[in-house]
Amino acid sequence: MLNEEQIFASWAADMYDEQETDLTDAEFACSVIGAPSKRILEIACGNGRMLVPLAKAGHVVTGLDFDEFMLSKIPDKAKGLRQISWRKADAMSEDWGSGYDVVMLAANFLFNIVTDLDYAEAQSLAIRKAAKALAPGGHLYIDYSYTLYPEDWFENPGEKLIWEGRDTQGNTGRMVLRDNTFDREKRLAHFVRRYELTLPDGSVIRRDIPNVKHFASLEEIHDWLAASGLVIEEEYGDYARSPIGETTNRAIIWARKQ
Ligand SMILES: C[S@@+](CC[C@H](N)C(=O)[O-])C[C@H]1O[C@@H](n2cnc3c(N)ncnc32)[C@H](O)[C@@H]1O
Repeated sequence: MLNEEQIFASWAADMYDEQETDLTDAEFACSVIGAPSKRILEIACGNGRMLVPLAKAGHVVTGLDFDEFMLSKIPDKAKGLRQISWRKADAMSEDWGSGYDVVMLAANFLFNIVTDLDYAEAQSLAIRKAAKALAPGGHLYIDYSYTLYPEDWFENPGEKLIWEGRDTQGNTGRMVLRDNTFDREKRLAHFVRRYELTLPDGSVIRRDIPNVKHFASLEEIHDWLAASGLVIEEEYGDYARSPIGETTNRAIIWARKQ
């Protein structure tokens, strides 16, 4: 029997698995990583959306995530694959291992970190831990949702629907983001994640989760990379390999450990 927190987490994992199925980012990552086979660590691998295509591309992959409901989606996708493993771990407090050819902080992990740490500290810590987990000459791959105009993204007083649907347990509902504001000076995005679910017995459960996230600038990311001995070899603003600019919406970085 799941408690309320687990019901929300299980519903969210079902919605993510069902609705977040675009693999453009995974295909792009494979094209940057290239051949031959590499030992890859994906931080916050979730439901294996990206981890499994990396394994299918011939790499030896390890994933790490602290959400057991997300991780439970991997076995089905990974059937028949031998070079794939994953484990439950908090990426901020636990060890990442060492000797990897590639560490992935993809799928906007730098803005999806769940942590009690100061957010900018968590972001820079993720880069330091990635550098430590890499073999000399290995690469860090970052895919971060990035704009030169964060106020346009984050200053939305209204509600934005993220997921709506029925999960495998028969719970139906929605998750919205609301009350978005952006503190330009501190580069902090404030918003509330609201879950509202109707359970099979007709009862309704709700949860408001306040979030404060630091929207790291490109300069900050560059400084954190340099401080960890990582040298940028490639940098793109989108999956068409455009340079980061006025109209691009990502920061995709391929940086080598000295
Ligand atoms: C947007 S999902 C991305 C999942 C997957 N990487 C993908 O490409 O679809 C973000 C993931 O980050 C994980 N996550 C967030 N903070 C974490 C932490 N501190 N430790 C481990 N996993 C974390 C969540 O559990 C979630 O699965």
